[in-house]
Amino acid sequence: MSQPKIDFSERAGAKTDALVLGWFQEETKEKGKRVTPHFAGKSNKEIEQLLARLRASNHFTGKRNETDLLRFYGLEGYPNTILLGLGSAQKWNTEFSRQAGAALYHIQKRGRLKGVTLQADSLFSKVDNKHQASYVQAFCEGYLLAGYEYRDLKKHEEIFSPGFLEFHGLAKGKLAEATERAFVLSAAVNFARSLGDRPGNVLTPTEFGRVLEKMAKDVGLRCTVLDKAAIEKEKMGLFLGVAKGSAEDPRFIVLEHRGGKKTDKHIALVGKGITFDSGGISLKPAQRMEDMKYDMMGAAAVAGIMQAVANLKLPLNITGYIATTENMPGGRAQKPGDVARSSNGKTVEIINTDAEGRLILADALEYVQRREPQAILDFATLTGAVVDALGTVTSGIMGNHPGLIQQIKDAAQVTGERVWELPLYEEYEEDLKSSVADIKNSGIREAGASKGGTFLKFFVEPKFPWVHCDIAGSSYHRKDLNYHPPKYGAGVMVRLVTHLLETWKPLK
Ligand code: BES
Ligand code: MN
Ligand code: ZN
Repeated sequence: MSQPKIDFSERAGAKTDALVLGWFQEETKEKGKRVTPHFAGKSNKEIEQLLARLRASNHFTGKRNETDLLRFYGLEGYPNTILLGLGSAQKWNTEFSRQAGAALYHIQKRGRLKGVTLQADSLFSKVDNKHQASYVQAFCEGYLLAGYEYRDLKKHEEIFSPGFLEFHGLAKGKLAEATERAFVLSAAVNFARSLGDRPGNVLTPTEFGRVLEKMAKDVGLRCTVLDKAAIEKEKMGLFLGVAKGSAEDPRFIVLEHRGGKKTDKHIALVGKGITFDSGGISLKPAQRMEDMKYDMMGAAAVAGIMQAVANLKLPLNITGYIATTENMPGGRAQKPGDVARSSNGKTVEIINTDAEGRLILADALEYVQRREPQAILDFATLTGAVVDALGTVTSGIMGNHPGLIQQIKDAAQVTGERVWELPLYEEYEEDLKSSVADIKNSGIREAGASKGGTFLKFFVEPKFPWVHCDIAGSSYHRKDLNYHPPKYGAGVMVRLVTHLLETWKPLK
């Protein structure tokens, strides 16, 4: 997928296809409660006249993400005009700037306009200098994220894609860096999305390893792929137990970024990479089972974050760990009642073969802890229960270190992603006690997301700061935000965690 270009200077020669004007919304006192658009940028006669017409017609009011293409209505020598609604000026923030960027992309595409020029002071004149770069970055992120589609497997009918966006009225300087960052971040998010969108027969665990080897080479990460024999050597019995039912071999993938000092402990990112989750012998119902190709969005997030931190050359040591396999029924599949043994010797009674994510993560977490990280974050589409509890609009987070959880919440505030903390009370442990093994992989229905976290906690030594992110609801088919494609992967956690790492504060 090629991304559109973004520029801060006028192209030589002709004007672009449209001038884009942002409009805030204000309530006028004159005529009761009527809302009208309000222009915050440098005005002129033409804009005054347009404003008068808009107010008279009451057609476009400047509501957030409202757009209109005035075809053949030109200003300042541009052939067309795009109106972009920004909502209340008091509420204007970076997240709304991101959504405005996406709204612009969508109307530019619908209008089949190759290039457009944004009169930037109409959006950013009220933002103080110090924050301008983050508003511009967010706007560009929205614009670039909105353009994502997965088309690798579709016949190439002619589709129109916007080519470029120019900013007018802003000095290039710092802002070029802001757009550069937006490009890096949206490319990483779009990479994560595309991994998820690949069908299970395309992105097998073996192929996952190959794709990440190539990505690592492109951006300068070290990549090691453990094949089935190497995983057996590691005695990852829980991981191998899940893989047993599949004709595809599992892979354990390690991506290393070494931007810090040699002696700096690394930050570990761990991803659940089930390339297809049928449930195994505890087979899932057929309805929406096709969505289970997305059961590797945790691993995809890790891959996207690693790509971003390499491109941004962060001065930290960061390692991504991905356990990837299918979860399939078959003559050799593990069965309910089986007991499997983890690489650290703990035994697990398999009650439900569909609770497989926690099994592969438990072995991954043991592998990680042997390498003495300074902190561990894991990402997984772990439970349907988190979708019941929180819906798709937020990710569930839980862990053993309040300071790390707070850092994640702070990063979420800045990047506009949402996280919501769920508890890991000791009382939940009772439900996972087994009469034949050290623990069982599933208990009763209630508090399912916290139970998943509690199972993982059993495999994490308290001395390691650890947070588990359950992204089962938030990581694909998002219909709530205009920069997420409703029918594809969303790529959550990539922007959030990259920001967390950029502003990383060593934990106490
Ligand atoms: N991959 C699923 C969780 C999931 C559900 C992801 C819906 C995305 C959307 C996971 O492996 C699973 O099946 N979890 C079980 C656990 C249960 C058996 C304890 C679940 O949530 O039902
Ligand atoms: Mn499952
Ligand atoms: Zn799963």
